[in-house]
Amino acid sequence: MTTTLATPLTLPCGAILPNRICKSAMTEGIADSYDHATDKHINLYRTWSNGGAGLQISGNIMVDYRYLERPGNVVVQDKTGFEQLQDWAAAATEFGNHFWAQISHPGRQCARISSGQPLSPSDVQLKMLATFAQPRAMTEEDIQDVIQRYINTAVIVKEAGFTGVQIHGAHGYLISQFLSPVTNQRKDQWGGTLENRARFLLTIVKKVRQALGASFPIGVKLNSADFQKGGFTLTESAQVAKWLSDEKIDVLEISGGTYEQIKLLGHTGEQSDIENPEVDKDVRESTKQREAYFLEYAKTIQDVIDIPLMVTGGFRARDGMQEALANNELDMIGIARPLCFDPDVPKKLISGEMDNAQQYAPKLWSGAFGPASKNKIFRMVNIFGDVAWYYHQILKLSENKALNPKIGLLRSFFSHFYREYKIGITRKWVQRKRSNH
Ligand SMILES: Cc1cc2nc3c(=O)[nH]c(=O)nc-3n(C[C@H](O)[C@H](O)[C@H](O)COP(=O)(O)O)c2cc1C
Repeated sequence: MTTTLATPLTLPCGAILPNRICKSAMTEGIADSYDHATDKHINLYRTWSNGGAGLQISGNIMVDYRYLERPGNVVVQDKTGFEQLQDWAAAATEFGNHFWAQISHPGRQCARISSGQPLSPSDVQLKMLATFAQPRAMTEEDIQDVIQRYINTAVIVKEAGFTGVQIHGAHGYLISQFLSPVTNQRKDQWGGTLENRARFLLTIVKKVRQALGASFPIGVKLNSADFQKGGFTLTESAQVAKWLSDEKIDVLEISGGTYEQIKLLGHTGEQSDIENPEVDKDVRESTKQREAYFLEYAKTIQDVIDIPLMVTGGFRARDGMQEALANNELDMIGIARPLCFDPDVPKKLISGEMDNAQQYAPKLWSGAFGPASKNKIFRMVNIFGDVAWYYHQILKLSENKALNPKIGLLRSFFSHFYREYKIGITRKWVQRKRSNH
């Protein structure tokens, strides 16, 4: 029988996803100053649940309140805020879909306002707009502590009613930093060979499985490559995918890139000329038409794994999605940005009411001022302004307010940083007051 967007998917753990569309993770930035979920999460995720995706994945949920990807992240490290977490999970599953928590640690991609000294496998700083501080190389004790935190967070979200977890191993966050030779220059059992660099991820996966049991869904988001010179390659990604398949994880989501190379959103930055030429020269026309950034890469991975594969990034055309499913190139389609404007995209694609999830999109500057500009400032304004524009729409959805697609790039950029700074400062003040009691 041909697989379509409407076909349910039985996972290795036995759970069943009602269809083949996943609302991929999008960080929300709407937690309160105690890092707890709020009514905004409830509004947002109830709306998305009604939108028809068989699986929704939360934005980054942090395992340690000291290190945030951005102010406004939800942190789950103990039972404070547990009721809000329960309410969030209930609203997000209201229409019968799965809702998984994306569990994450930013490592060096930690907002400076949350930590002046983040952690990373090695002390390699991310130099972008001075927003990220010099990281400290993790000690063995730090590594064991963070592993324990992933398990702890996974156990709490399961208790709160999330129906699965996704371990974030992509996009240059901590696990991805361990995988990459650029950020992992360790000489111990956590660095060097691929086996050593993957040890952190695989240890977390094994221990989370032990803690959650055989019948609870566990996913991993992994880069097909970092698209950076000397970084994590497609060949390495396929090997790590094979190891994850041996661990019988339930869904492997493939994406790519880091903050320095925003390939996940389709941008090619300054180092785009060194992106996996072995694959890029061979991109088939039909794939281009489908627009999916990582589908061709995912084929290399699909060949070596025996677990459901999801690919995220650029999927818009219904025909392309159906074709990829029918050809067994993947098992799930991940979609993110189009759901910032039309939360009902999944059900419209499944029913055939919509042929193309063509999104509104922020108008980027072009040419010498565009995202591929030689000038770092222009590059950053385009790339961060682009993402900030989506944050803005997510905020509107979470407040049940009308969307604002007309907001320009520069205004998105500045209003985002102003808001982030404001909530970052308020959070610091509240937390200092709390720790004084
Ligand atoms: C506003 C925004 C926030 C995002 N936050 C996350 C996140 O928290 N975790 C994650 O793994 N990916 C995150 N992503 C990446 C998306 O999950 C997805 O990989 C990317 O947007 C490509 O899919 P799309 O072309 O369908 O938008 C984010 C993307 C956007 C636009």
